[in-house]
Amino acid sequence: MADLSVEFCGVRFENPIVLASGVLGVTADSMAQVVRNGAGGVTSKSLWPYEHFGHPNPTIVTSEHYMLNAVGIPDAGPEKAREELARFREVCKAPFIANIVGGKMEDYVAIAKEVALMQPDIVEINISCPNVEDELGKPMACSIAKSSEVTKLVKAALKEAGAGHVPVTVKLSPNVENIVSIATSVLEAGADGITAINTVGPGMAINIDFAQPILANRVGGLSGPAIKPLAVKYVYDIYRAHKCPIIGTGGVCTGADAIEMMMAGATLVGVGSAVWLRGQDVFGQIVKEMNDWCDAHGVEKLSSLIGKAHAHS
Ligand SMILES: Cc1cc2nc3c(=O)[nH]c(=O)nc-3n(C[C@H](O)[C@H](O)[C@H](O)COP(=O)(O)O)c2cc1C
Repeated sequence: MADLSVEFCGVRFENPIVLASGVLGVTADSMAQVVRNGAGGVTSKSLWPYEHFGHPNPTIVTSEHYMLNAVGIPDAGPEKAREELARFREVCKAPFIANIVGGKMEDYVAIAKEVALMQPDIVEINISCPNVEDELGKPMACSIAKSSEVTKLVKAALKEAGAGHVPVTVKLSPNVENIVSIATSVLEAGADGITAINTVGPGMAINIDFAQPILANRVGGLSGPAIKPLAVKYVYDIYRAHKCPIIGTGGVCTGADAIEMMMAGATLVGVGSAVWLRGQDVFGQIVKEMNDWCDAHGVEKLSSLIGKAHAHS
């Protein structure tokens, strides 16, 4: 039995598989169930500083190879999030990553101060959702200046709220010319790690019987197996440039996928769309497959695989 534990920015995880933001991370019960199902930690859905409405249904298209979502980041606001997190803490010891979002810079400052009160283990700044562009414009992750500014503001807000010790990761978009330069800017601005990647696109699926887009929003962020090679490459590129802590996310469905992501440079591995493809106990399945792979290959410590693909470059 291999040692599957990893340390991410000083936080210990029993295993590297974490629930990705927006997928089941809504209530205390759903997050605790994800941990019972085998995940090493959970990420909340994106939290706003105020109530926020998502897009009308239908919001999700699934297939064997990909998902499109235009959920639109609905949220009941910080009071509800505080209640759910307090209940989660009562029943579950696994690390909790609070993912935060906003429309304007001030929103990020406000929600950072709110989540500081929730005592998260890590804060993840979502600046990269592609399916709210009609409402918010181009994601901040597309601009070096905005990515850097939001990182500095959130770090300062956490410090002011007495949570300056909480590590911060910034969730990056694949829909940019040069993801490494964005990673460089947020790390220079004080980010402790990077989450890569958010969904790709947006993309579209058309119902040919009705001759119209399936999603009410017409377009949605692309995720699932189809995006894994992109996610692996971006994690690889960011790790090669910075050797920083990375939550590698995008298309991971199996233990082999997760190991591939770690070899590219990820310390933690986010799993989202796989819940639709393999069911809610996918976390335990992936962990078991990683363990079996380690046993078969004589790997005693899973963390020894982080960045291993770089040895050959
Ligand atoms: C239904 C759905 C909702 C999502 N909501 C969020 C969200 O609220 N905040 C966020 O940062 N990412 C969100 N994401 C993006 C995922 O966290 C993840 O980065 C992306 O889906 C790629 O991983 P996957 O292929 O394992 O799903 C969402 C993804 C899906 C499929």
